[in-house]
Amino acid sequence: MVTEKIIILDFGSQYTQLIARRVRELNVYCEIWPFNSANKIDSGVKGVILSGSPSSVRDINAPKPDLTAVKGKLPLLGICYGAQYLSHYFGGEVAPSDSREYGRASLDITVPSSRLFGSMNSGMQVWMSHGDTIVRLPEKYTITGSTHDVSIGAFEAEGEDTFGIQFHPEVYHTTEGLQLLKNFVVDICGCQQSWTPESFIAETIRNLQDTLQDDKVVLGLSGGVDSSVAAVLLHKAIGNKLHCIFVDNGLLRKNEFASVMNSYQHMGLNVRGVDARDMFLGALSGIEDPEQKRKSIGKQFIEVFEHEARKIQGAKWLAQGTIYPDVIESVSVNGPSVTIKSHHNVGGLPEKMNLMVIEPLKLLFKDEVRRVGKALAIDPVILNRHPFPGPGLAIRIISDVTPEKVSMLQEVDDIFIKGLMEYELYDKVWQAAAILLPVRSVGVMGDERTYESVVALRAVTSTDGMTADWAHLPYEFLGHISNRIINKVKGVNRVVFDISSKPPATIEWE
Ligand code: XMP
Repeated sequence: MVTEKIIILDFGSQYTQLIARRVRELNVYCEIWPFNSANKIDSGVKGVILSGSPSSVRDINAPKPDLTAVKGKLPLLGICYGAQYLSHYFGGEVAPSDSREYGRASLDITVPSSRLFGSMNSGMQVWMSHGDTIVRLPEKYTITGSTHDVSIGAFEAEGEDTFGIQFHPEVYHTTEGLQLLKNFVVDICGCQQSWTPESFIAETIRNLQDTLQDDKVVLGLSGGVDSSVAAVLLHKAIGNKLHCIFVDNGLLRKNEFASVMNSYQHMGLNVRGVDARDMFLGALSGIEDPEQKRKSIGKQFIEVFEHEARKIQGAKWLAQGTIYPDVIESVSVNGPSVTIKSHHNVGGLPEKMNLMVIEPLKLLFKDEVRRVGKALAIDPVILNRHPFPGPGLAIRIISDVTPEKVSMLQEVDDIFIKGLMEYELYDKVWQAAAILLPVRSVGVMGDERTYESVVALRAVTSTDGMTADWAHLPYEFLGHISNRIINKVKGVNRVVFDISSKPPATIEWE
């Protein structure tokens, strides 16, 4: 178990996950808990952060937890709503603000000796985002920082480690925000900064060995980062008692199955490759509706996986590459999310096969999974791969799926992806895809008129896939790729580039 941690009580702010990531960047372990769970705090908790919230403390239904177990007993930092709640709850006053309190502001540190502001500069830029403001502090609270528009920009309580800030230290626009969080978690809470990928690996392997003992574990590999890192951790813990299954659904990228299998075998994993291309493509025949495609693929996957898993006599566990954002999917103000995403479409299987579920990465963010993967010396080709959807190319063919269309799209995709690598653009893009449109257009090739398919290229930048911008790829690159595709891929005579951001568009077209 992690011995020391910071708890973030979540009041539903869009930035809550970011606070957790920033604290973890400081090599301090932290978890996000529902706002009303302060009473569950145990001796490992070194400090508590109260997040922001879309609510106003003046709303009847605003989250109003009991902080008796925390306040005055552990270091406490309220951010935005958290700060307003501390004021309101302990006798101060919060009112709607009458001036703009959104965006950049400059913070004057009025009490330079405040431990929260150690090594920070008065006048630094901070990021504000709130409709309410604190107009009066509770007794024995002192203002420690102000901006032009917000006189109570930061405060602390006398004689205890309770602090409040109206701005958001977790966003990059607050230029010294990480230093502020460090002051809180290291200097005030006394955390050791010992939570590193290496310490995570050592501890996880120990825990897995304790839990699994001599049991056999089955894991579905997808070729992606999460399942690969989960597999390597488990393999280190229990060796060949981990049985991996990697299914070729016929919807992967060109040559992907062979190359990924090869990497897995090089890593020493006990992995069985299953060729189920005909099954998947047969079941998809004639289906145009995106959701029906997903359902069909999910159903086939469960069938194939179950069939293969049953061959592993005596397996007791199903391992999954679930990561932290899947688990919290905002541990919303209504309590922890009950709908935890089931990975690799094996939903329902654990119950059916009487398997227990083990998820060694469920406390990590995606970038942390990559850091752990790097520390485990996993091939960078696997670690730095773009995300790829479970239903694969089926949802990038905007019509019914046929083997011919899959092959055509694989060729286009291959040219695009290899081109991104060749131009050193691959790692600058979050995800890139080629989409086969259900449109034919007229063209000329030599003396002949053609009437052939149109493909769209999509490349986006993002940090988590939740929002995304289209990648501003150089024209020269796009021109080169377009020529290459039209010259090399039979049946394609036109290439377009998708310049939509998410929202309102999505990354995939289906
Ligand atoms: P959208 O299209 O919703 O995609 O902006 C966000 C991210 O999710 C991936 N995606 C999927 N992944 N099964 C998956 O495993 C799916 O059905 C699916 N649909 C979208 C998408 O590739 C992107 O990374």
